[in-house]
Order: sequence, then structure tokens, then C-alpha cells
Amino acid sequence: FVRMSFSAKLIGWYLDHGRELPWRQTQDPYVIWLSEIILQQTRVEQGMPYFQSFVTTLPTIEDFAKAEEDVILRLWQGLGYYSRARNMHKAAKMVMSAFEGSFPTRYEDVIQLPGVGPYTASAISSFSSNEARAVVDGNVYRVLARVFGIDTDTNSSAGKKIFQQLADELIDQKEPGLYNQAIMDFGALICKPKQPLCPTCIFEDTCVAKATNQIDTLPKKIKS
Ligand code: ADE
Repeated sequence: FVRMSFSAKLIGWYLDHGRELPWRQTQDPYVIWLSEIILQQTRVEQGMPYFQSFVTTLPTIEDFAKAEEDVILRLWQGLGYYSRARNMHKAAKMVMSAFEGSFPTRYEDVIQLPGVGPYTASAISSFSSNEARAVVDGNVYRVLARVFGIDTDTNSSAGKKIFQQLADELIDQKEPGLYNQAIMDFGALICKPKQPLCPTCIFEDTCVAKATNQIDTLPKKIKS
């Protein structure tokens, strides 16, 4: 029999066990951007009602750009890190002026917007237009460090490079959006920081960390 690739296994798991989240029902880059900025420093459960209010009150990028700043800050109230909300307003105005009101979907365009870094640009471009850009964050470090047994410090520049390279090799070229959603959920639901659910894990038989008793020590993160 053939061995399924990492991405095929991950996507298979996601289609059966992934979370149904409201921002996964759309390919509208504006709506995806709203969700990804909210989720930068906020948990899914906490962010959900905020996401719903934003989409309902400001359904288009034009509505967002034209809104008074205090309307946006009021919708944001309780989420913290208010620079996110102010950057969103700047980004919305930039979409109106530099992108003729059409929210960009390409990584190289999206990354120009204030408040959008590599993770968020990868998420938006892969979800809205299936561009093959791999998201890399703490969840991804954890899954890859454990499954492939990588003990390089994720805070070092060598570590960042190794994980980004591996993530770029692993991403599913046909379904990059599904792959990115899948690895986010897999890290959040199965390969959790504490007490991961190894007995139900699809990678248990090949996981290096499991085989070498390193589940509790990977990923390695030296405080910087
Ligand atoms: N965290 C950041 N982006 C996310 C997404 N699209 N789904 C779930 N959690 C996330």
C-alpha cells in the first residue's frame, strides 16, 4: 500500500474532525481579514461574537473604511491591543485608495497592509485564493517539532528558517487553504501544548517525539 503524505493525512483528518467556524464559510478576503486580525491575540471562543458583530455592522470593506474610528473602537471594546483596531482602519482606507476598494487576495499585496504580518497574509491569501503560503505560528512549531522530531530552538533564526522551510515543503499544493485550516485545528485540538491526545492522533505511529519520549520537551523554545 502507499503511504499517505503528511498533508493528505492532515486534510483527511480535518474534513472529518475540523471545527466549523463562521469565517470558514466564505472566500471573501475582507471577511477573512476581519477574522484573522481578531484571532491574532484572541482565542476562537472569545473572538467569535466580535467577528459576528463586525460582519453584521460593517459588511463590506467600504463600510469599514468609511466608519468613524469610535464606531470601530466600540465594536472592538473588550478585545484589547487597540492598535489592532487602529491598524485595521488604516488598512481599510489603504484598500480603498491603493486597491480601488477591492480587498487584495495575493500574499504580496495583503502583506502591505498595516497590521498584517506573514502569518495573517498567508492565511488570507490561502483561504481567499488558494495561494500556497504556509502559516507558521506556535501551533505549527509544535506539530512539526513533535511529528518530525526537530529540537532546534524556535526562537533562534536557524529555527525559524528550518520550520518555515519544512512548512513550505509540506503545504498541500492543490488545497493550501484546507491544509492551513487543518494544521491550525490539529494543533489546537489534538497536538495540544499540554496533554496532547496521542492515542487518537493520526501521526502516532510515525511521530518522532512520541517514539523518543520528547512530547513534553518539544518544541524547544529558549526564552529570548
Ligand atoms: N487562529 C488564527 N486563524 C484561525 C482560523 N482561521 N481558524 C481557527 N483559528 C485561527
